[in-house]
Amino acid sequence: MGSSELIFRGHDETQPTPDAYSPKPAKPWLFVIRPVRYLLREKRLVFFLVGMAIATVFFTILPSSSPHAHKYDPLPDSFSHISHELTTPVRYKYYEPLQVGFQSANSGGKIPLGLKRKGLRIVVTGGAGFVGSHLVDRLIARGDSVIVVDNFFTGRKENVMHHFKNPRFELIRHDVVEPLLLEVDQIYHLACPASPVHYKHNPVKTIKTNVVGTLNMLGLAKRVGARFLLTSTSEVYGDPLQHPQVETYWGNVNPIGVRSCYDEGKRTAETLAMDYHRGAGVEVRIARIFNTYGPRMCIDDGRVVSNFVAQALRKEPMTVYGDGKQTRSFQFVSDLVEGLMRLMEGEHVGPFNLGNPGEFTMLELAQVSVFPLMISLLLVQVSGL
Ligand SMILES: NC(=O)c1ccc[n+]([C@@H]2O[C@H](COP(=O)([O-])OP(=O)(O)OC[C@H]3O[C@@H](n4cnc5c(N)ncnc54)[C@H](O)[C@@H]3O)[C@@H](O)[C@H]2O)c1
Repeated sequence: MGSSELIFRGHDETQPTPDAYSPKPAKPWLFVIRPVRYLLREKRLVFFLVGMAIATVFFTILPSSSPHAHKYDPLPDSFSHISHELTTPVRYKYYEPLQVGFQSANSGGKIPLGLKRKGLRIVVTGGAGFVGSHLVDRLIARGDSVIVVDNFFTGRKENVMHHFKNPRFELIRHDVVEPLLLEVDQIYHLACPASPVHYKHNPVKTIKTNVVGTLNMLGLAKRVGARFLLTSTSEVYGDPLQHPQVETYWGNVNPIGVRSCYDEGKRTAETLAMDYHRGAGVEVRIARIFNTYGPRMCIDDGRVVSNFVAQALRKEPMTVYGDGKQTRSFQFVSDLVEGLMRLMEGEHVGPFNLGNPGEFTMLELAQVSVFPLMISLLLVQVSGL
């Protein structure tokens, strides 16, 4: 017997090794069947479809959440060279904001519910005054948050107290001659007494308000990347030799007169605004305002409209100087406010004249002032109010 017979125990068939690996046969549709089974289990498919339906309704069928929302667009490339100096990372500009009195600029795509346009944060210096308070009314109505900065030299709390309960309104008693730090998107800089009676009262203070106050507000605009609008005046043309005055006319001015604290103050304020624009990239707008009238004017500010109205109310004769044929133009305050807002939202730096191109003689003005007033006084007397 050979050695091979002793080892082999005598089966002819080869036995399979018990631990050998044998792959399972491939099931061809398993990669499809598994997710389908997963979806069908525990009504997952139903929940998925319901979720899709809700999302469709949410983003497509429901109307925009804010009918008054404004369209925003990042600033164009031309502004990119200044963005590194600004602390606010992204700034926005309006476009098409004025089609229907600032109310229906949302002509583009729908804004999903919950993604409302964020109102702008706006400072209005001198916002408790005549023009400022009307501007504040419009900005609040537009949906912006407004901070009024005023030292109440000629302004009154009563002009803005109807906003006191509005969470989007704040009032700070502050003199713009002192620096102030606020995080805002836009600055309307109106703070300055406007009537000769008031600005001549303390001429040094007037020029300080115009120069140091404007410097402070421009510094703030630079620091926080806000757009800045200066309310300058037609008085920068001085005693003009050109009629009507166009913006390119440099004026006929007197640096040493009793009105110079105002006229020259505003001219310096314009210079500062342009230097901050050119040198520091601040977005500025300059409005040169012509005579304006309307509710909340100071009754005794010495200006012709308020003089006539005050005299008519006191049933005194109206004072017309000279032959009464000298002409002036007068715009209503709501038109001015519209112009200021358009200027702020537009691309035109200025200076930009804002006034009524039509002129009245003083005699005509006395007539148009007295008749409506007499009628309203008569109505008040007749109705016994
Ligand atoms: N009303 C016009 O016909 C007319 C014409 C040309 C220019 N402007 C300009 O428009 C702006 C507003 O004029 P207005 O008619 O409303 O005058 P306003 O006197 O009624 O308002 C000026 C406001 O500025 C405030 N103010 C003054 N000095 C301040 C200071 N140092 N710090 C903080 N607040 C201060 C006053 O308290 C007031 O509320 C002014 O800059 C004015 O020069 C007005």
